[in-house]
Amino acid sequence: MQITAKTLLALLLIVVTPLGCKHKPGGGSGNDIIVGEYGSMTGTEATFGQSTDEGIQLATDQVNQAGGLLGKQVKIIARDDQGSQDQAVSVVKELINREHAVAILGEVASTNSLAGGQVCEKAKVPMISPSSTNPKVTQGKQFVYRVCFTDDFQAKGDADFVSRRGWKNVAVLTAADSDYSNGLATFFKEEFKSHGSVVADEEYRKDDRDFKPQLTRIKAASPDVVYVPGYYTQVINILKQARELGLTVPFVGGDGWDSEATLKAPQADGCFFSNHYSPDEPRLEVQEFVKAYRAKFNKIPDAMAVTGYDAARVLFDAIKRAGSIDPIAISDAIAQTKNFPGASGTITVDAQHNARKPIVMLEIRGGKTTIADTIPPQ
Ligand code: PHE
Repeated sequence: MQITAKTLLALLLIVVTPLGCKHKPGGGSGNDIIVGEYGSMTGTEATFGQSTDEGIQLATDQVNQAGGLLGKQVKIIARDDQGSQDQAVSVVKELINREHAVAILGEVASTNSLAGGQVCEKAKVPMISPSSTNPKVTQGKQFVYRVCFTDDFQAKGDADFVSRRGWKNVAVLTAADSDYSNGLATFFKEEFKSHGSVVADEEYRKDDRDFKPQLTRIKAASPDVVYVPGYYTQVINILKQARELGLTVPFVGGDGWDSEATLKAPQADGCFFSNHYSPDEPRLEVQEFVKAYRAKFNKIPDAMAVTGYDAARVLFDAIKRAGSIDPIAISDAIAQTKNFPGASGTITVDAQHNARKPIVMLEIRGGKTTIADTIPPQ
C-alpha cells in the first residue's frame, strides 16, 4: 500500500495531538506545579531581582521538603527582565503562554509590575508583586495582588518621620521616569505641606550620571534634609556627588534604597530610609526567616528577600486552599488571604488587593541599619 500525503497527515495528527494537549493552558504538567517568576536579575537594580529570587527559592525548598502542594512539587521558572518594562512584558508572556505558569511572582520596581501586570490581567493568571508599592500596580486589576504596603502610606510615614526629627525645610529630588519615585514624591510633598516647606523640588532621569546641577540648586536652598525617593544605584551616586559639593545634611528615602551597596556607602552614613522589615525585629517569623536564609545563602536578607519569601508563601497557601491549579481558583484564594503570618508582617489581602503592614524607619550607620522608628499600619 502506498502512503499518500493525506494518510501521512492523518498519522501525524494522531501522534502530535496528545503531545499538544499535554500542557493544558494554566495547568502545568506532570508532577509539577509551574509558577513563573520575573525580575531584574541583571542591570542597575540587579539586587532587586536576585534577592527576591533567593526569598522565593527558600520558600519553595521549604514547601517541597514538606511534601509539596496537592501531591505535586512546586517548580519555579524564573526569567530575567533586565529591569526593563519591555522585557517584563515579553518574559511574562513567555511564562504564561509557553511555560503555562499557573501564577506569576514579581516584580519589584513598580513600573515593571505595571507592565507585567497588564499581561497577567489579560491572560487571567494571578500575579503577586512582593514589593511594588505604587498604588497603580493593583488599581482596577482583577488578577494582580501585592503583599506589601502602598506609597501613599509609605510617603506619609516618611513625611511624619522627617517632621518628628524637627526638620522644617526639605528638598525633594525625584526620578521623573519612575512610577515609584513620582508616586512617593507626590504623596510626600502633599503630606509635608502641613509640617513645613519644600524649599527645592528637582528631578533626574533613570539613566543620568551627573546630578550636580540639581544638587547645586538644592544646596543653595539650604534644606535641613533632602528626600530622594529613588533606587539604590542612583541614590548612591547622588549621595557621593552631594557630599563632594559640600551638601552634608541627612538624606531620607524609601524602600528603593535597600541594598547592601547603600549600607556600605560611607556617604550614606547618618541617612534614613523606610522599609518593609528589619533583620533585627524580634518577632519569631522574622528570626526564623533570617536563620533559614542565612543557613542557605550565608548573608543577611534584605527587604526584597523577605517580601519575595512572603509572596511565594502566600501563593502556596492560596493554591492549597484552592485545592486546584486553575489560575482563576488560585486568584480567588489569594483574594481571601487573611492574617497570614508573613516574615514581613501579618498579611491580609484587602478589597483593593493590597496588604496593610507596618513601616520600619532604618538609620544607616557604619555599614549597618538600626531601627529608628516603627509606624503601625493605618
Ligand atoms: N517599592 C519599590 C517600587 O515599588 C520597589 C522596592 C521594594 C525596592 C523593596 C526595594 C525594596 O518600585
